[in-house]
Amino acid sequence: MAFAHTPNPAVQAGQQLRDGRLLFAQLNCAACHADAAKIPAKGQGMPELGQLAPLLSGFSTKYNPDFLTEWIADPHAIRPGTHMPKVLTGPDAAQKAADIAAALTQGEAPKPGAKPKAEDSLAGGALFANLGCIGCHQRPDAEVDGSPSHGRIPLAHLSDKYQLRIEALAAFLKDPSANYAATRMPHFRLNDEESTQLASYLLLNGRMIKRKSLQGDAARGGQLLLSAGCLNCHAGMPATTQPALAIVQKAADKGCLASTPANRGTAPDYALTAPQRAALSAFLRTDLASLHQDVPAEFAARQIKDLNCVACHDRDSAGSTWAKVDNESRKLRAALPAKDHVEGEPVPDAPVPALTWTGEKLRNDWLVKFLAGKVEEKPRPWMIGRMPGFAHRADGLALGFAHQHGLPQQEPAEAAPNETKVKFGETLLGNSGGFNCIQCHGLGDQAATAVFEAPAINFVQSNERLRKGYFARWVMAPTRIDPQTKMPKYADPEGMTQLTDPLDGKGAEQFEAIREYLRTVK
Ligand code: HEC
Ligand code: HEC
Ligand code: HEC
Ligand code: HEC
Ligand code: HEC
Repeated sequence: MAFAHTPNPAVQAGQQLRDGRLLFAQLNCAACHADAAKIPAKGQGMPELGQLAPLLSGFSTKYNPDFLTEWIADPHAIRPGTHMPKVLTGPDAAQKAADIAAALTQGEAPKPGAKPKAEDSLAGGALFANLGCIGCHQRPDAEVDGSPSHGRIPLAHLSDKYQLRIEALAAFLKDPSANYAATRMPHFRLNDEESTQLASYLLLNGRMIKRKSLQGDAARGGQLLLSAGCLNCHAGMPATTQPALAIVQKAADKGCLASTPANRGTAPDYALTAPQRAALSAFLRTDLASLHQDVPAEFAARQIKDLNCVACHDRDSAGSTWAKVDNESRKLRAALPAKDHVEGEPVPDAPVPALTWTGEKLRNDWLVKFLAGKVEEKPRPWMIGRMPGFAHRADGLALGFAHQHGLPQQEPAEAAPNETKVKFGETLLGNSGGFNCIQCHGLGDQAATAVFEAPAINFVQSNERLRKGYFARWVMAPTRIDPQTKMPKYADPEGMTQLTDPLDGKGAEQFEAIREYLRTVK
């Protein structure tokens, strides 16, 4: 059965339970349907459990109250796939939403501020393409030409949400996690110029909406924030009035899990699909004990999907969205005035490394820092794109990557570099009597010697990055790992190289000597 890929019912049932478990955590069911005996305490068990929704504060100077009213009344209409349900029901739902919006925007009025400029917008459009925003998000004007969505998150509503308040949007882009630690929107380490340009592009190309405002009552809105359950998710308030978890576990086609509005009654609407409802129901029928477990390899698998790493990276057989929408990127770049390329300046279309081998390639300490966005020097300075930070998930992801490849978190300790090998290695790396690796690879302050066609990572970085076994396998046969790579292969199928001296032309030993030398370079 496994060979034939015949759907195996046991595997499918297991996958359904996993899907239901993840939905239960992400959609924060336990925020309202509590049970202290079954739900692990904060910070224990499944990491996705009990993540707080965004802080609902500081809105008066940022957002348009009419937009907030629409979001609260029906978040899925604005962001398909959002984890926030439609909470308010009944004929006066729109009025209740306006009341809450009024409560949330009480306080200091917005400052007038600068207006977005057209030339910033063009530069911002190119950045939107070159940094890979376009892999996760639709362009703000995508509706106009009907570009395929590829499941990307729409941004056309930002002009309406921010009312052209460029500073507020730029501030969000510079630190998306400021009010929302668990956000899936990554941190790009944008400077002031970049964030202003991106904000200008997003605000000038979206859609403004003219509508009749509903006058909200802030006092009533303040009450509703408490009674409707908003603050259960948004501030970790304990659940009070909703049915207990034990009741929910027994329910069928009812409340939040109902398939029709009639069956749903006054319960929140998550816009669940039929398979999602089935997965949640199947999971709720278990004893929920798996919520107490935390398996790093599975955590990584879930997060790679949830955080959409494949927006920018290839991984196994999945190709990146960024590459799929290259026609859109090219138009955005072409809108900028043409400029001659200066040798050495970063380019927009250099290949992004695949994630297929990450777990066996990169050392845990480096990977944790890198995923958190805390490695100062870009490994690939020749590309405009950069790896954005996912600080909230870095530790678990890095450990999970290693476990997926069957490797321990830390590499075994190594003895001090062998002095004879170090000497051989230094020669083998260089251009007299060696392979001339430094033609493409920098070595600390020493830049690569050849004008590049195949720029490569500085060896000092590689030394911090790479696991020992990967180094050996890569140098022995680079195209086995990356069929597109421009790094030459130095060893023949028997592992022998062209250089018979030193080490009798034995590739494995020569490459090990190079690595021993690199360990001594700071
Ligand atoms: C904001 C609070 C809130 C959240 C979060 C929430 N629910 Fe509910 N749920 C309710 C309320 C309120 C009711 C009861 C509505 C009523 O009385 O008709 C309900 C009812 C239910 C019922 C019917 C129980 C019964 O037999 O009466 C089920 C099943 C249910 N929810 C499942 C879920 C699941 C699964 C999730 C997560 C995907 C979830 N709920 C998240 C508030 C919430
Ligand atoms: C890996 C996917 C990913 C990438 C890449 C990404 N984002 Fe996001 N972004 C998200 C997600 C997911 C959200 C929704 C909020 C959440 O889940 O926290 C979001 C939210 C946003 C929002 C807020 C939308 C709103 O309704 O207020 C803006 C603005 C935004 N992104 C702009 C950008 C820009 C500009 C870039 C490039 C510099 C970018 N994003 C790159 C995933 C991504
Ligand atoms: C089940 C949990 C849950 C409940 C209940 C809930 N929210 Fe949310 N809310 C979220 C999440 C999660 C987000 C982040 C958006 C995303 O992940 O797509 C969010 C986003 C928001 C935002 C957007 C914040 C921003 O800066 O863009 C507002 C406003 C908001 N919620 C208000 C409310 C109000 C008002 C209620 C009650 C009527 C409510 N929420 C109920 C989970 C919830
Ligand atoms: C917006 C596009 C984008 C997204 C989304 C993205 N990355 Fe990256 N990532 C990059 C770029 C560009 C590089 C190369 C940066 C460099 O080397 O200077 C990179 C490099 C990496 C590397 C180093 C790979 C190597 O072999 O050197 C790892 C590991 C990585 N990313 C993991 C992830 C994970 C895990 C996710 C999802 C949580 C993710 N990336 C999401 C753009 C992205
Ligand atoms: C023609 C240029 C070229 C030469 C010469 C070259 N390499 Fe490379 N090397 C590359 C490229 C291109 C990559 C892949 C860069 C990337 O991942 O983006 C690479 C990657 C590597 C990596 C992985 C680096 C990392 O941190 O991910 C190692 C190790 C390496 N090369 C070792 C060597 C050694 C040892 C030699 C000499 C025996 C050598 N290379 C010669 C082009 C070259």
